[in-house]
Amino acid sequence: MPWLPLLISGVLCLALCVYLAGKRPYRSPQSVAVNYDHWTRDGLLERLWGDHIHLGYYGDPPRPQDFRASKARLVHELVHWSDLHKLPPGSRLLDVGCGIGGSARILARDYGFQVLGISISSQQIDRARALTPAHIPCRFAVMDALAMPMADGSFDAVWTVEAAPHIADKQRFANELLRLLKPGGQLVMADWNQRDSRQQPLSRLEQMVLSILLEQWGHAAFASMEAVQEHLQASPHGCVSLHTADWSRATFPSWPEAIREGFRRPWAVLSLGSAAVVKGLREMPTILLMAWAWRRGLLRFGVFCAERAGSDGGDGSTARRPPG
Ligand SMILES: C[S@@+](CC[C@H](N)C(=O)[O-])C[C@H]1O[C@@H](n2cnc3c(N)ncnc32)[C@H](O)[C@@H]1O
Repeated sequence: MPWLPLLISGVLCLALCVYLAGKRPYRSPQSVAVNYDHWTRDGLLERLWGDHIHLGYYGDPPRPQDFRASKARLVHELVHWSDLHKLPPGSRLLDVGCGIGGSARILARDYGFQVLGISISSQQIDRARALTPAHIPCRFAVMDALAMPMADGSFDAVWTVEAAPHIADKQRFANELLRLLKPGGQLVMADWNQRDSRQQPLSRLEQMVLSILLEQWGHAAFASMEAVQEHLQASPHGCVSLHTADWSRATFPSWPEAIREGFRRPWAVLSLGSAAVVKGLREMPTILLMAWAWRRGLLRFGVFCAERAGSDGGDGSTARRPPG
């Protein structure tokens, strides 16, 4: 069958054209809202990932575990790594870019915090409210992370997981996170960070892959872990006790597992109809590229913990704890 390789190449080229033509680039916070509204309305992401739209924690070295349990575990690992569990019950916590509230509910239910979760996507906020039983002290609101109307110092802690790549103005984002903390309040952040190109310039291939990864999932830009620290330290609101760690190894299995999950539980996808199957297949190349970028060290899972400076200020270099 001499025509078979030709046919396969033709189909692959067509699939690649559809993939590249169907990209979802960042244009504004509103374009991010539209993407998440779609991803929430069609139910596919929730069926497969549960109520957490973030990577899972598999340990370091990683060990096999349930796909959705690994996501809840990431929340607990981050709470303990950052010492957030030492805050007294009743502390006010803001979850910036809260998705459909998976982390917010854990933080309220298991640690006793009073949580406000905000997202740019109104569909996510509707879903977060629907998923939250009345006895869990979580409120949710549609809000742009760069235009939050709350007064300075309104929260004891600010939490943000995997929202930063959607935010174009990284310095303003860092300023807002710190502004909303009371002096001495605690910031906990997890971000997808690209390798610092000042230390090792990006190859043409790496630049190409990063631009595909930005355009496919509505990301504005990836900051390096170094740049995130610089933004926090440059904030006029003051940042002290900043410490960071790289959790790339512990989160890496999330990528292959995201694909396996679709095959492990095909009915979760099939029961949503043929459009969901196409949508699911459509995300595969991006997931594979993410896995490649993770393995290569081009993208890293950075975690950050800091405090807003007290009234006596601080230079950000003290009380640096070792990475968790
Ligand atoms: C990858 S999801 C993470 C969701 C959630 N943190 C979780 O871990 O399940 C990114 C979240 O950031 C939110 N987001 C992106 N840009 C935003 C903005 N400008 N203002 C508020 N939320 C934003 C999205 O709506 C979405 O909820």
